[in-house]
Amino acid sequence: MTTKRLGLIGYPLSHSLSPVIQQAALDYNGIDGVFELWPTNADELAARIAGLRRSEVLGAGVTIPHKETVIPMLDQIDSVASTIGAVNTVVKRRGRLIGYNTDADGFIRAMEEKAGFSPIDKRAVVLGAGGAARACVWALLDREATSVVLLNRTVERAAMLRDRLPAELRGRTEIDALTDEACHRYVSIADLLVNTTSLGMLHSEGEDRSPAPASCLHRDLLVYDIVYNPAVTPLLRDAERAGARTLGGLPMLVYQGVVAFELWTGRPA
Ligand code: ATR
Repeated sequence: MTTKRLGLIGYPLSHSLSPVIQQAALDYNGIDGVFELWPTNADELAARIAGLRRSEVLGAGVTIPHKETVIPMLDQIDSVASTIGAVNTVVKRRGRLIGYNTDADGFIRAMEEKAGFSPIDKRAVVLGAGGAARACVWALLDREATSVVLLNRTVERAAMLRDRLPAELRGRTEIDALTDEACHRYVSIADLLVNTTSLGMLHSEGEDRSPAPASCLHRDLLVYDIVYNPAVTPLLRDAERAGARTLGGLPMLVYQGVVAFELWTGRPA
């Protein structure tokens, strides 16, 4: 039997821990398969997706910057992924490529299980408006957060994210530009601050920067940075100093990977 193949599609991928996590799950389950890094830029994406149709490929993970642009290249989109407008997992079933989003589930499960924090009746501020933000905002509203304030450097992108939400969720969202002043105004009265921007990420342009000023952080806040490398980002370091509770991005990565593994293999991770 040929060795099954899975991989992660994105660029850059040098910081990715997914191969370690997924390979361990394949080996533990006795599946003859490999999980590889498939660095792919925008020009190469269509050819890469076409390559998934080869028989030995089970599917792929999709990450920065392709979670939105991959959608029209697939045969079918799951309803949660369609609502969020972003795909992070491609599964092949009977030759058809189906797009899923496991970020929303992974995001919530990590917060509930690792920080003991439920979003119900909580006020949240989400920084960033990319594919990861779409999943987080939808998940928080779907799980009955009181309100979500979305702050982004490019405020038009935040507006687009809100406009795409189902009408019944849109009324609980607010948008503004990501500035120090906006952070002070909204974070000071929030229960939860989520960073989905790439600021603080190792090997990125803003790796030594925090998306929010330290002075807006406080003791009654959970600060959840979905950046997982480094484990303690500049934002989390400031949050610890301010006495806030903190959660890094590794549990979300693991939980979204658990859901993806189960979709690819049909076996519990
Ligand atoms: P993902 O799909 O993982 O969310 P993305 O779509 O590339 O990744 O989104 C990255 C996010 O980080 C965006 O919200 C981006 O802000 P813009 O929409 O204004 O581009 C944010 N981001 C990246 N670099 C930033 C910086 N130097 N300052 C502030 N925000 C930044």
